[in-house]
Order: sequence, then C-alpha cells, then structure tokens
Amino acid sequence: MIFLKICILVVTLSLAVLQLAHCKKKSNKFDFFTFTQDWPMVICVKDRSTGEKCHISRNVTGWTIHGLWPSVGSSKGPAFCNNSSKFNESAIEKLLPALDVYWPNLHSDTVRDDFWAYEWSKHGTCAKLVKETRNEYLYFKKALDLFQMINFTGILTDIGVIPDDNKLYDVLDILNKITPRLSKVKGIKPRLSCYKYKEQFYLTSVIICFTKQFEMTSCLQKPRDNRLYFQSLKDKKQIEKVENLANNDDLIDCPHDHLVKYPTIRYH
Ligand SMILES: *[C@@H]1O[C@H](CO)[C@@H](O)[C@H](O)[C@H]1NC(C)=O
Ligand SMILES: *[C@@H]1O[C@H](CO)[C@@H](O)[C@H](O)[C@H]1NC(C)=O
Ligand SMILES: *[C@@H]1O[C@H](CO)[C@@H](O)[C@H](O)[C@H]1NC(C)=O
Ligand SMILES: *[C@@H]1O[C@H](CO)[C@@H](O)[C@H](O)[C@H]1NC(C)=O
Ligand SMILES: *[C@@H]1O[C@H](CO)[C@@H](O)[C@H](O)[C@H]1NC(C)=O
Repeated sequence: MIFLKICILVVTLSLAVLQLAHCKKKSNKFDFFTFTQDWPMVICVKDRSTGEKCHISRNVTGWTIHGLWPSVGSSKGPAFCNNSSKFNESAIEKLLPALDVYWPNLHSDTVRDDFWAYEWSKHGTCAKLVKETRNEYLYFKKALDLFQMINFTGILTDIGVIPDDNKLYDVLDILNKITPRLSKVKGIKPRLSCYKYKEQFYLTSVIICFTKQFEMTSCLQKPRDNRLYFQSLKDKKQIEKVENLANNDDLIDCPHDHLVKYPTIRYH
C-alpha cells in the first residue's frame, strides 16, 4: 500500500517535471529583437557555389532585410509560435513594393512569398506580444521602418566602404566607424557576420539588436541564427533537417584580424 502511494507520488512528480520542461521549451517569451540585414551578393556567392539558384532583381541595389527575430540571451529564442497563424499576402499588400526591393527573396527556385512566409511563421508569430509587431502587417512594417532608419548602405558609403571586387576591407576599421553612426548611445555595438568561402571572408550580415521598446541595444550574444539564408517552407523535410543540424555554421562573426571581401552585385 505504502509502496503504491510512493509509486503514485513518483509518477505524479515525474509528470510535473516533464510538464515543466515542456512548458519551458514551448515558452514564447523573449527579451529583445535581433534585426539582421544581408549583403545580397554574398547569399548568391554561397548559393552559386552549392548549386542553388539565386537571382538579384535589378531594383535591389543595396543591403536587404533578412529578419526581425524575437530573441533570448544567447539561446535561439522562440520560433514557430503559432502554426495556425498562416502568412497572408493580402495583409501586407500595401508594403509589397517596398518589400520587393528591401526584403527580396533571392532564392529563384522558390516563389516570391516564400521568404516572407518563412520569416513570418518562424519569427513573426513570436512577436505578437509586442504592441508594435502584434500582427502581420505591423511586423513587416516595423522591419521596413527599422531598415529605413538604419540605412546601412548609406552608412557604409559614408565611411568609404563601397562594394569592390578587387578590394579587401578591415573589419575592425568598419566596426569602429559605423558604431558611432548607428547610435549616439555609447557602448552599443553592432555585429558583422561573415561567410567563409575558399579561404576568403565575405561581409554578409550586419546584426543590430533592439529592446522590445525598439531602443537600440548591444548584441553581445552569439548570433541567434547561424544559417546564411532561409529554406522554403514547402520543403518541410529539408527544414527539419536544417533545423536539427546544430553546428551547421554558415555564418560566423567576422574575424577582427582578417580582411573581408565586399563584392559588387551582379544581376545575371
Ligand atoms: C509548429 O510547427 C513546428 C514545426 O513542425 C513545431 O516544431 C512547433 O512546435 C509548432 N508550434 C506550435 C506552437 O505548436
Ligand atoms: C494563433 O493564430 C490564430 C489565427 O490567427 C488565432 O486565432 C489564435 O488566437 C492564435 N493563438 C494564440 C495562442 O495566439
Ligand atoms: C488576409 O488579409 C486580408 C486583408 O487584411 C483579410 O481581409 C483576410 O481576411 C485575411 N485572410 C485570412 C485567411 O486571414
Ligand atoms: C522589383 O523586382 C521584382 C522582381 O523582378 C518585381 O516583382 C517588382 O515589381 C519590382 N519592384 C519595383 C518597385 O520595381
Ligand atoms: C540610404 O541612403 C542613400 C544615400 O546615402 C539613399 O540613396 C538611399 O535611398 C537610402 N535608402 C533607404 C532605404 O532609405
């Protein structure tokens, strides 16, 4: 009888622990936003090297949005928070002309909406707890607003960092010069991510973090996503495979003791 009671207690306790672990894993809470922009040509350098199709439309001439990601500390943060909340193109119809130019899908073997649908399902559905990103329209609008506010293409041009196939740039020099231009607040640091290909480092992404009130803040943590680009949601199996590859590091912090390439955009 006592044995049975203890047994029931143990089972109940284990269930509670299991449930707790489950709850923790499923929590949609996050602490800050990670806002990432990409240099589109480097996405194509990678894609063309692995046989994937990449196309940059003529109306894309500068840095492009990758995503606005609810994030937690140095972990990955929540993802796919509401699978019933499907991406709806009509909801962002007014933003499409801007999204085509500033948030384009470069994977030409997927459809135009695939990148937005992926970012919405994976990250946007987790941003609903913040007033300014509480629905699909506001989420995409906010990313576009941040993009206009930062204008990384303009900042790099101002400091003389211009795409050039025959030039190499110093990472530390770029960081030192862009930091005061991004924020007047001292100590706020952006991150630069690089893609390593054939022993060369390519400037790929600039990562800037924001509080949930959209004040710029430092991204001291590791980048929350180390994959270079997205996978089409239609290819579910592929996604699961990629999501499960813990150490599939396409992207790394640009090493401060190396020079980096910043190639010109080619449109073919
Ligand atoms: C949504 O689907 C993904 C992938 O199938 C799954 O990992 C995730 O747990 C789902 N999210 C919710 C809130 O059920
Ligand atoms: C998930 O999304 C659906 C469809 O937009 C919505 O009705 C539902 O309330 C959402 N669930 C949560 C937990 O936010
Ligand atoms: C998609 O968005 C449009 C415009 O906001 C809305 O009228 C429509 O009901 C939405 N469709 C779904 C399935 O939510
Ligand atoms: C930009 O290019 C895309 C793809 O070629 C096209 O669908 C879109 O209409 C263009 N947008 C503008 C504003 O020219
Ligand atoms: C960024 O600034 C440049 C000028 O430096 C301008 O030509 C461009 O239109 C701006 N981009 C955006 C998205 O505002």
